[in-house]
Amino acid sequence: MDENSKMAQKMRETVLDMDDLPTLPSVVLKVIKIIDNPYSNADQLTELISMDQSLTAKTLKLANSAYYGFPREIMTVTEAVVVLGFLTVRNLILTSTLYNIFVNENEDKNFDRRKFWKHSIATAICARLLVSATVPGQKEEEEAFTLGILHDVGKVFLDNNYHEKLMMVIREQRRNRKDPVYKIEKRVFGMDHGEIGALIIDRWNLPENFIEPIKFHHRPSLANDKFMTSVLHVADIISKYSMANYDGTDILSHISGDALTAISLKKDSIKSIMQSLEYEMSNADLFLNS
Ligand SMILES: [Fe+2]
Ligand SMILES: [Fe+2]
Repeated sequence: MDENSKMAQKMRETVLDMDDLPTLPSVVLKVIKIIDNPYSNADQLTELISMDQSLTAKTLKLANSAYYGFPREIMTVTEAVVVLGFLTVRNLILTSTLYNIFVNENEDKNFDRRKFWKHSIATAICARLLVSATVPGQKEEEEAFTLGILHDVGKVFLDNNYHEKLMMVIREQRRNRKDPVYKIEKRVFGMDHGEIGALIIDRWNLPENFIEPIKFHHRPSLANDKFMTSVLHVADIISKYSMANYDGTDILSHISGDALTAISLKKDSIKSIMQSLEYEMSNADLFLNS
């Protein structure tokens, strides 16, 4: 076994054996299962929310927010689920519980968790936009959203457990822009954050089809599930560009051509996706400050 495979093996064991891996709140898992099950209904979701005080408060707050502009006050969770819709409520639950895992008040300038959270939400929204622009289907759109939020979870793990080394990786990437972060991570940790994220998704018992897109979001050509992996790959890059306020002129040099083909996205549609993303982000306050 060469040095790098040994490192990869060790990292795998660390992720799989770690006792204090942040646990995914069981409510998230329950929500994902409810949505995944074609026979589930709004009552089950309402019941789940009603058992949790802070989720109840958030759901009512979202239903009564100016964004939805309902003419009268929404007083109950049942009503809120009806007016907001099943999937919006699910995303609210997902984002507000994951927020606590992803964001800590880490002042380190190299890994700003709030900025990171914003990137995750932007990737989620963008992934949903890409699916709806190419192969619309509500279940797929919402799955893309979930994957967008989760796609860089491996970075959270690295920051929590190998903060100094991760900072080194980021500094090296800034110094020498030739290699992308995931390649430097592979050298330093034996695995990149996509592979680590895939192990975490597995440990959290999330649906199996979440694993590949997360694992290969920086190397979509390696995935069997080309569609979702490519959606995530393209969404990640578009969201990075949008946050950095680039106009997107040279964005194509960062996107795998195969990924564009896999999602049948025309190059000239990227600009309009970026505009829609910008608009949606300006309305995403509730998700951003969960
Ligand atoms: Fe990533
Ligand atoms: Fe990312």
